[in-house]
Order: sequence, then structure tokens, then C-alpha cells
Amino acid sequence: MLSFIFQTISAAHASTFMPPVVTKIGGEFDSLYIFLIWASGISCFLVIGGFIYFGIIYRRRTPNDKTPYISHNNTLEFLWSFIPFVIFMIVFVWGWWIFHEFHHPPKDAFEVHVTGQKWFWSFQYKSGKKSDAELFVPVDQDVRLIMTSTDVLHSFYVPAFRFKQDVVPGRYTSFWFHADKPGTYQVFCAEYCGDSHSGMLAKVHVLPRAEFEKWLGEADPYLNLSMADIGAKIYNGKCIACHNVTAEKKVGPGFLGLFGKKRQFDDAGEVTADENYIRESVLVPTAKTVAGFPKGAMPSFQGQLSEKEIMGIIEYIKTLH
Ligand code: CUA
Repeated sequence: MLSFIFQTISAAHASTFMPPVVTKIGGEFDSLYIFLIWASGISCFLVIGGFIYFGIIYRRRTPNDKTPYISHNNTLEFLWSFIPFVIFMIVFVWGWWIFHEFHHPPKDAFEVHVTGQKWFWSFQYKSGKKSDAELFVPVDQDVRLIMTSTDVLHSFYVPAFRFKQDVVPGRYTSFWFHADKPGTYQVFCAEYCGDSHSGMLAKVHVLPRAEFEKWLGEADPYLNLSMADIGAKIYNGKCIACHNVTAEKKVGPGFLGLFGKKRQFDDAGEVTADENYIRESVLVPTAKTVAGFPKGAMPSFQGQLSEKEIMGIIEYIKTLH
């Protein structure tokens, strides 16, 4: 029975609730957190337990029972003030220390710029390399993320790093980490930011040094990819939060069977979905709004996609039928 309970707990631990921690600073957060849980648990046990125990042994036994007159007890009063004071000071100093460490990145940290936008994350490396929805970093290396948003508040949250930081339009926020274990870790957006907030996901890939250098050195991220595969890659990074590759609607229309279909608009009659239509929908999404969808829900991707990437999306949509 007990082993079953432990198994269930560790399975839940690995998947959702506080997955195994992979950064040093995350381990420090965990230690403080566990201390808080124990301190609260023991206090709760003492207070409620004492309450029940004294309630029973000093219960009223006869109608003539009188409560003894006790005005005060210096020792007790000192102890119940001083012990909590010490515990709170421990929590304060400990928390302050972690906070301080967290906000002072090492000087030689590897820096990556992060941009949050409805509803995807993109990453810009100093070498000029870019990626969407996938952050690549080397293992055993201090990494600093410099983050901003192009529209509303988002929050970059990596449970396995115990890390959550608001991403704010018009300013930079940052954090740093040092991942000890290669692997792939889930990123969530933890600040409600509109329709596809829950779909605003990304992965952090922590790679062995050599593999990371290789990835960073590949100048063309689309090396040896077909146009449709390039489109699929863009789709998975930038479009997936709002568009299905089935015909089913999400925030926006599904892509299945879209190409060559007649589109009905609330504001511009109808048009056949050809290359020019898809291009316009990506760059100037407000030009035409498909009937039954909210106007202005989609942000413009002007300046964010190269010609090759736009062609890739068009070719990818053509394959969905
Ligand atoms: Cu971005 Cu929630």
C-alpha cells in the first residue's frame, strides 16, 4: 500500500506538480519551500493538537467548576513571541539570500533574448540565430534570459527550473539559471494574456556542449528542409496556439482544406484562398476577417517572417487537404 502511494506520488511529481528540479537555484527554492511546509505543518499540529488536548483534559466536569484566575506568564509569553520571531527571521534571510542570488547573474553568462507575443515565445541568440517555441541552451553553463513582450503581460514559467518571471511590454526583465542535466523541459505562460494563453507553450532543450555548438553553428535553421517542412516548423512555433491543422476552428480557422477554398468575409465579400490571400492574412490580418471570427484577434507578422518563411507557410497549408 505504502509503496503504491509513493509510486503514485513520484509519477505525479515527474509529470505535473513540481517536476524534478534541474537547476541549482531551483534546488535552493525547493529547500526553502520544504522548510516552510514543515514549519507550517509542525505549527499547525502544535496549535490544533494543543487546542484539542487542553480542551479535553480541562473540560468542565461539574456545574461548579471555576476557571482559575491566571493574569500572565512571562516565560510562556516570551517563548511564543521569540520562537516565531526566530523562524520568521530565518525565512526572511534565507528568502532574501536566494532572491539576491537570483538577481545577480554571473558576468560570463550566456545571454539569450526572449520575446513573448500573443501567443508564442521566440528566442534570439547573439550569433544572429533565431528560434520559435524552442529554446536551446548548453548544459553546465550559466544562462541569462533577457525578456520582453511586444503586446501584453506574459510570464515565462519553467516548472523544472522553479522559475517564473513576468515579461512586460516596454521593458526588459531577466533571470539566469544553470541547468545540470541535459533534457527537454516544458515552458508555460503563467500570466493570463487572452484567448490562447494556455496554448502559449515552449520547450527548453538543455544540450551537451558539443551538440549545442553544432546547433548554434548551423547558420540556416532550415538547412535541408522542404518548403512545406519549413512551413510546418513555423506553424509549430507561431501559429499552433490559434490554428488547428484540422478543419476545426480554434481562435482562428482550421487550416485543413483551406487552400483553394472560397472564403466568406464579414467585411469584404468573398475570395478564393490562394497564395496572395494567405500572404495577406499573415502580414495584414485585419484586411479581411473570415465570417464568424472576431476582428483583429490575430497580430500582424510583418517584419517577423522572411520571404522564405512566408512561402513555407503557403506550401505547408497546400499540403493540408
Ligand atoms: Cu502569454 Cu499567457
